[in-house]
Amino acid sequence: MDTNANWYIGGRWVDPHEAVISINDMAVLRGYSAFEALRTYDRRPFHLDEHLKRLYRSAELIELPIPWPASFIAGVIHEIIERNSYTHAAIRLLVTGGESEDSITPTGQPTLAVMITPLGERDMQRFARGIKLITTRLQREAPEAKTTNYMAAVRALKEAAKHDATDALFVNSDGHVLEATRSNFFIFRENTLVTPREGVLHGITRNVVLELAHGRFTIEERPILLDELSLSGEAFISSSSKEITPVAQIDDLHIGNGKPGPRTYELEQRFIELIERGNF
Ligand SMILES: Cc1ncc(COP(=O)(O)O)c(C=O)c1O
Repeated sequence: MDTNANWYIGGRWVDPHEAVISINDMAVLRGYSAFEALRTYDRRPFHLDEHLKRLYRSAELIELPIPWPASFIAGVIHEIIERNSYTHAAIRLLVTGGESEDSITPTGQPTLAVMITPLGERDMQRFARGIKLITTRLQREAPEAKTTNYMAAVRALKEAAKHDATDALFVNSDGHVLEATRSNFFIFRENTLVTPREGVLHGITRNVVLELAHGRFTIEERPILLDELSLSGEAFISSSSKEITPVAQIDDLHIGNGKPGPRTYELEQRFIELIERGNF
């Protein structure tokens, strides 16, 4: 961690080791808080307004009122970028549930924390290799909300590591493949791009991918059946930090010929062009 970084917490600008919240905060006691993770390219936040909208939507879904307007949080984000010299950075926003006297009823005001960490240049190898995923039957709670309850993700990632996989895909009791622990999931069936709409977090990158694919590929937002994976020619995941990352293997199944495919590559190229044009 960069100990010279300047972070924001509860109205103060501090070193990361001074960015602390109360042990009685509902975020600590019960994992009750909303958060966001976005990134900058060349010191400009990527789709900031969409991330802020999702923060308020997540908070609403878990009935956590945010006492500041979005313009205030946007101001703090611009200031944290100013205060830290990183060319590319990951920014996390946290709105805690606030302190509780009986350890279950939120009675205090939420705390807003904004943290920033540097990011390196894009790893082009990632596009060339593709990653391995496992499937898991663990489930996210309130999947359409971005909350700090990542218990299922933490457990699924431990399982993935045991299988030399990079990540895990959540599969629900209907056999629908939903998303990875911190990314959305897509398959190609011929020229049709398929991604689930229900039971997943609506990723900001997911929306960008769908815009990039619009007019070039047929798009279906619908459940993906586990059995359908063997019929898909290509698969990839999308997220703010991983952008578009091809998937080469899911459990024992090799996707397509086990190498990233041309359609995924085309979307990646479009994505990179969009970033390079600064068109966000
Ligand atoms: C569960 C989950 N799905 C999808 C995503 C991708 O969202 P985004 O593209 O906004 O980074 C994330 C990101 O953190 C996530 O946690």
